[in-house]
Amino acid sequence: MKLIFEYEESITGHLPDSSDDDSHSLGDLPRELIRKELPLPNVSEIDVIRHYSNMSRKNFGVDIGFYPLGSCTMKYNPKINEDIAKLEGFMQLHPLSHQSCIQGSLQLMWELGEYFKKITGMDAFSLQPAAGSQSELLGVMIAKAYFKEKKEKRTKIIIPDSAHGTNPATAAMCKFETITVKSDSRGNMDINEFKELLEEDIALVMLTNPNTLGLFEEKVLEISDLAHRNGSLMYCDGANMNALLGITRPADQGFDLIHLNLHKTFSTPHGGGGPGAGALGVKTHLSDFLPLPRVVNDGKNFALDYDRRRSVGMTRYCYGNFGMLVRAYAYIRSWGNELRKISEHAILNANYLCSLLKEDFELPYDRRCAHEFVLSSRKLGQKSALNIAKRIMDYGFHPPTIYFPLIVPEALMIEPTETESKETLDEFATALRKIAKELKENPDFVKGAPYTRSVERLDEVIAARRPNLRWNAHTGLEEEDGKKMPGINEREDRRQK
Ligand SMILES: Cc1ncc(COP(=O)(O)O)c(C=O)c1O
Repeated sequence: MKLIFEYEESITGHLPDSSDDDSHSLGDLPRELIRKELPLPNVSEIDVIRHYSNMSRKNFGVDIGFYPLGSCTMKYNPKINEDIAKLEGFMQLHPLSHQSCIQGSLQLMWELGEYFKKITGMDAFSLQPAAGSQSELLGVMIAKAYFKEKKEKRTKIIIPDSAHGTNPATAAMCKFETITVKSDSRGNMDINEFKELLEEDIALVMLTNPNTLGLFEEKVLEISDLAHRNGSLMYCDGANMNALLGITRPADQGFDLIHLNLHKTFSTPHGGGGPGAGALGVKTHLSDFLPLPRVVNDGKNFALDYDRRRSVGMTRYCYGNFGMLVRAYAYIRSWGNELRKISEHAILNANYLCSLLKEDFELPYDRRCAHEFVLSSRKLGQKSALNIAKRIMDYGFHPPTIYFPLIVPEALMIEPTETESKETLDEFATALRKIAKELKENPDFVKGAPYTRSVERLDEVIAARRPNLRWNAHTGLEEEDGKKMPGINEREDRRQK
């Protein structure tokens, strides 16, 4: 594919003549500051449309196809969210606007906090963090401030071995020691080992519920009870809240803090380096530590409250990523009192897909799952999970998460989400079963996949660590500092022969 700058000048696309010094649009600008040249491409509308349409088709997104990337909850982002986020008053919100001019935006944030309180059972929320992981950091900072104020020296955090990597990373960033508890044969945190490790220097027990195996922690009430009797706090990694909406509330399971990832449960767009949003909820005994400003409501007006001495400070400037909050709000409002259906469908879809696949693969923890499930492909050979992930792209699907959680060998972590139809789930299961057959009959063929994407098999470590973003205008292909890129260059070599 060419760059837009490499198209020949079109006879229909045209820019104003840049040599026209009298152009009235330049107004009173000082002449010496007016550029003489503006080398923008002169390309016709149809070429522009084709160029960008073709480029977008080289990428894969949830608007194109099924995206069962476990633990990432790639659910559909309804377009009404975008329409509402684009409303002038929301889009032009300035962080330093006078509070009397932004009552609607403050109301939205206040109401969103109220919805999160209802959904989780917590007493107060901050919408400031820019991601789930930043909410985690905030939560652990708050726990640290809480124990400091109580003059209790607690230096450790208990985290099960199935946890997402951000949990121990957050603990380390806040200078806590991580104590890892192994999972038992049902995929729960091993309660006996937990009891042995629960000592008086434990500050937090950090549990993900449902955990990253897609399984509900069956002993959560007992764990909370033991932790509280020990004076420790219960932290919920609520990234998997998509399984619990309207069914159970983390506060009722004994948690003192919870973070929500708005992209995972409340349909805000995923990353790509763009703005994200998290939210941190706490019980009353921790609420004064939340970041400032807090949105308050005196029954008539909304305001920003900067006046709380015990706050741990700001995690992000002012309102957080407001556009994401608008989208989450729109999503909750559009479901109204039926939020529970989201989780019911997510759970139904995951269990249905799991039942279609567990015979051809292996289900290490054979229990009814929540919103996602983890298979093992170890009986199909070493690196089979990687080879399946590459091959499934040829069938038009995004690969599932692989090699996570770390406790499952050759893990395939599949999260269909509530938005997929039975037809899509059936097609995906058929494709995975075909690949399992291919792996038995012709493994070398699968090891060469993908064959139909815009690039062939890349070295995923190089692609992630040293992303190659340079364009070579002569070959129309990417090059990495003169080194051959596997896949891309091989294809070019073949073309030249
Ligand atoms: C269980 C769990 N915890 C934490 C995170 C981190 O959240 P974020 O990507 O918003 O930083 C994720 C992300 O998907 C997750 O699945």
